Amino acid sequence: MQMIKLKIESMGNAGRGELEALCGAGARLLPGLWAGDERYRDSMGWLDPEEWAPPVRVEQLQGKAKEVREKAQSLVLIGVGGSNKAARALVTALEPEGIPIVYAGNTLSPHSMRQVIGQLEGKSFYINVIAKNFETLEPGVAFRTLRAVLEGRYGGGAAKRILVTGTPGSRLQEMAGENGYDFLTFPDNIGGRYSALCDVGLFPMAAAGVDIAQVVRGAVEMCCALRTDGSPQNPAVRYAAFRNLWYQQGKRLEMLSIFEPRLGYLGEWWVQLFAESQGKRGMGLFPVLSKYSEDLHSVGQYVQEGAPILLETFLQVEDPEADVSVPPSPVQDGFQYLEGKDYRFLNRAAEEATMQAHSSRLPCLRLSVPRIDAYHLGQLLYFFEFSCYLSSEMLGVNPFDQPGVEAYKQAMSRRLRGEAI
Ligand code: PA5
Repeated sequence: MQMIKLKIESMGNAGRGELEALCGAGARLLPGLWAGDERYRDSMGWLDPEEWAPPVRVEQLQGKAKEVREKAQSLVLIGVGGSNKAARALVTALEPEGIPIVYAGNTLSPHSMRQVIGQLEGKSFYINVIAKNFETLEPGVAFRTLRAVLEGRYGGGAAKRILVTGTPGSRLQEMAGENGYDFLTFPDNIGGRYSALCDVGLFPMAAAGVDIAQVVRGAVEMCCALRTDGSPQNPAVRYAAFRNLWYQQGKRLEMLSIFEPRLGYLGEWWVQLFAESQGKRGMGLFPVLSKYSEDLHSVGQYVQEGAPILLETFLQVEDPEADVSVPPSPVQDGFQYLEGKDYRFLNRAAEEATMQAHSSRLPCLRLSVPRIDAYHLGQLLYFFEFSCYLSSEMLGVNPFDQPGVEAYKQAMSRRLRGEAI
């Protein structure tokens, strides 16, 4: 079994001593964090991945997913924010062979809704709507719209094609009871962005064909590895300390850089996790994603010569598992020196060269994943969740609330209800 690895590539101007001091401080927080901070008692259900994803639940979800795959050609996944991102991240990265997922409820764009409806034409489908309390407008209105499409298609049989994932006692659960929808659990003690490893993330992943038992195994083994290492060398401690050190030194953005485009949604998930967890009380690193090598020809310029506000975390895949080589050509195009070279070699050269160039200017970290598979992505999900919790504690913010999101929601609600703005 191989674990993901963390390596500090460059330190910039701050001393190693300062980093080690912060790592020591981070390590001293661990016993309290693993015990489950009393202040966050109602948000800690993700800390032990087996609390909500024990083997028996994983099997039940796999069974339901199989049923959906047998009866439908697509699953519509309705959710916004933390409610759909983890599933989308793994489905996009792993390209599994289940049924395609159609994503909805994450935008109010009429064009997007029209597109979703178009994608469902002539296809048999199920709906999985995910909402913690079912008060958020985007998934609520998308569910109403797509439910109408489903009812138009299947009449009285539509209810059997709806799975709702909500908290016990929520309006969504009442609706399930009143209308005969299947009910999945959104645990009371898990917030959206920490919900990858429970019914919320696992059911749609399984429907798409992801091996969720491996995802959970990876997360459980990462949890165990982090829990048994109480030292300042613990990789989550080092990641959290590195981020906080550079925040204290005036950096304002952390860029996650990838060289595998299929990790793009994992990057989006990471952005949401850190932005909503840490951007509060006037603090926090702004998380941004760069997809290289394309973005080297856009933001790459800024990274190398713009305002010195960034630190960079490279998410590296050790074995990209694809072989394509540069073919011979009679045309003298100037690229003869690459003939016969594998794209793995090209991409790795771009990655190492970028790290070399950026390391000369900004603090850089390398996080290496052995392969893109369900097991290692499970490790990564848990690693980032725990690191975010620890890093937020070091920063001094509550990692589980998002009071700032209310401002737009209330203003939008007033407009839509025709109240005074
Ligand atoms: O991470 C979070 O907690 C949020 O992004 C929520 O997931 C998002 O606001 C959606 O909330 P709900 O599931 O209640 O619709």
